[in-house]
Amino acid sequence: MEVKEENREEYEIHGGFNQDTISAKYDELCRNYEEVYNSVGWPDPSQCAEKAVEHGYTQESEVLDMGCGTGLVVDYLKEKSGADTVKAIGVDASDGMIKKAEEKGTYTEIRNFLLCNLESFKTNHSDLIGRFDYVTASGLLAEGHATPEVFDEMIEALKVGGYAIFTSRIEYLEPLNYQKGMDERVESGKWEFIKKEEYEKYSKAKDCPLGRFKPVMSEVFVYRKL
Ligand SMILES: C[S@@+](CC[C@H](N)C(=O)[O-])C[C@H]1O[C@@H](n2cnc3c(N)ncnc32)[C@H](O)[C@@H]1O
Repeated sequence: MEVKEENREEYEIHGGFNQDTISAKYDELCRNYEEVYNSVGWPDPSQCAEKAVEHGYTQESEVLDMGCGTGLVVDYLKEKSGADTVKAIGVDASDGMIKKAEEKGTYTEIRNFLLCNLESFKTNHSDLIGRFDYVTASGLLAEGHATPEVFDEMIEALKVGGYAIFTSRIEYLEPLNYQKGMDERVESGKWEFIKKEEYEKYSKAKDCPLGRFKPVMSEVFVYRKL
């Protein structure tokens, strides 16, 4: 990976996330988001798309893409499935990221709101309840981004039999209570575990670690709503 000295700051400003400032932070990061992530190696959105295709995604499927950002999950869904169009609704907290995704014209609709508030989700977005074949969340389970409450929103948004497909660094699973959150919803019969797979991200930053970008192990998870 080659980083020009004048671009170094674009990598170092990533990090220090928290839920109160997440939208302002991504409004800043959006200007070079895809260039930065693609240059360090960002398999999360393609991992989510691949798992959706593996679990029966077709052009007719309805997708809710949580933390859609600039729209990479739908880019990969099109590439991996061969679909011309994708029936996807995006949700994101950052206007800047949403604008980038909208410029691609690949989502049916994108809504700006903060996830991880189940009551507000059910009250203000009742048309999203019980509607989707797939809920994807690439890069949303991360420090200062989403709490395990987002799993309830995924479950609410899915049809029975629909799939929740999301990624997380392995090192976040215990401290951020993501694993506990997944397990609790298995125990309460809300969803069943289908599979998980490990992969390395930020691999291209191996010889040149920058800010939070250095190779790290992640997992993609697949759960099915019961
Ligand atoms: C690392 S980016 C991932 C974007 C895209 N899914 C991808 O794979 O490239 C995380 C995105 O989640 C959004 N986000 C973070 N926390 C959020 C929350 N609580 N509610 C809604 N969006 C959130 C951010 O604005 C950002 O666009």
